[in-house]
Amino acid sequence: MSESATPYPYSPGLEGVPAGVSQISEIDSDRSSLQYRGYDVHDLAEHGSFEETAFLLLHGHLPNQHELTDFNNRLGTEREVPDAVYTALQALPPTTHPMDSIRTAFSVLAAFDPDYTEPATNHEANLRKAERIVAKAGTMVANGHRIRQGLNPIKPNPEHTTSENFLHLMTGTAPDPKTAHLLDASLTLYAEHGFNASTFANRVTVSTLSDLYSGIVTGIGTLRGPLHGGANEEAMRMLLEIGEPSNAQAWIDDALETKKKIMGFGHREYKKGDSRAMYLTKIAKALGIEKGNTKFGEIADILEDTMRERKNIFPNVDFPASYAYYLLDIPIDLYTPIFVVARVSGYCAHAIEQLSNNRLIRPKAIFDGPANLTYVPLADRA
Ligand code: CMC
Repeated sequence: MSESATPYPYSPGLEGVPAGVSQISEIDSDRSSLQYRGYDVHDLAEHGSFEETAFLLLHGHLPNQHELTDFNNRLGTEREVPDAVYTALQALPPTTHPMDSIRTAFSVLAAFDPDYTEPATNHEANLRKAERIVAKAGTMVANGHRIRQGLNPIKPNPEHTTSENFLHLMTGTAPDPKTAHLLDASLTLYAEHGFNASTFANRVTVSTLSDLYSGIVTGIGTLRGPLHGGANEEAMRMLLEIGEPSNAQAWIDDALETKKKIMGFGHREYKKGDSRAMYLTKIAKALGIEKGNTKFGEIADILEDTMRERKNIFPNVDFPASYAYYLLDIPIDLYTPIFVVARVSGYCAHAIEQLSNNRLIRPKAIFDGPANLTYVPLADRA
């Protein structure tokens, strides 16, 4: 339906429509910048840790050393999950996508939270739940990966950071510090992004006074799609399909000619480039040089130049994340679940913000169907 045909202001996909007030992050489309609670994400990724960012998002300020140590200790002691979560994951078919596994894992986990019966508006209980959610997400994704391979889950080491814990459980070996550091920076970049589709869906859910876990499950289900978080996996499959830099120009020419969507490019909010992609591209390309595998960076250059020149469209965070994760030997179908490991911190911050000043989110539909039809009894219908 066209805008002019409705009596209301209407923007398909809610493009450009403010849908609420938030103090958590600010996207500046003109400057291609992103700030979490006033801090530029580049600074947080460069100088801080994912845990500092998670604390900032949940508690509203950057932690001092004492607060960060306490927070890390709390996360460390909360990394383990009940056996019932693993039993549920073991019951899933081995073909289950890890995004469906992590969505299921959070559904099971909810009932075991010690604050399960607390009202949705209990702020202190919500903060405790949020820390447990952040602590356990990586454990469930990485041990879910083990279960899918027929391996047993591993006990988390409480001394490990979020990225070290993830790598330890995924590989079954001591985490490589450099890999953990790069993964950590990507978690910071993925942690939060305003009213993106999955965060907004999460806020809609908790606005009914449902609980944080229901918001997380909603968010994961929404993030899964290829127009959102699922793009990082699709982008890597595209790079593998292209295969070599010498194939890239013909591939992108054909893709544009046949009006294909190029995964990992474009963004609703950034029309001059995604700040997170700019940062991660440098990391991914440097990693390629270090690993002696520059072909994805070279293919990326050709796709980026062509998309910019012909469509004025830039890569988003999912594009460099895809080949960075590939170069770190992370299986492709864990890329979007890693996004979950980071983004649950943003989901929880938004759920808590929504619940601290709640109004049910309930927009209006513009009805565009038949009306006032005569009911014909079933026996008389043709
Ligand atoms: N490849 C080719 N053309 C594109 C692309 C792309 N990736 N993105 C946008 N366009 C074109 C689109 O075809 C349209 O052209 P036209 O006006 O000629 O029909 C124009 O640009 C506007 O696109 P749109 O789809 O109306 O823009 P949107 O704001 O609704 O979409 C988007 C944003 C992210 C859904 C879209 O850019 C897209 O589908 N990108 C590929 C999937 C992707 O990478 N998603 C990750 C998003 S960022 C991180 C995250 O949230 O996970």
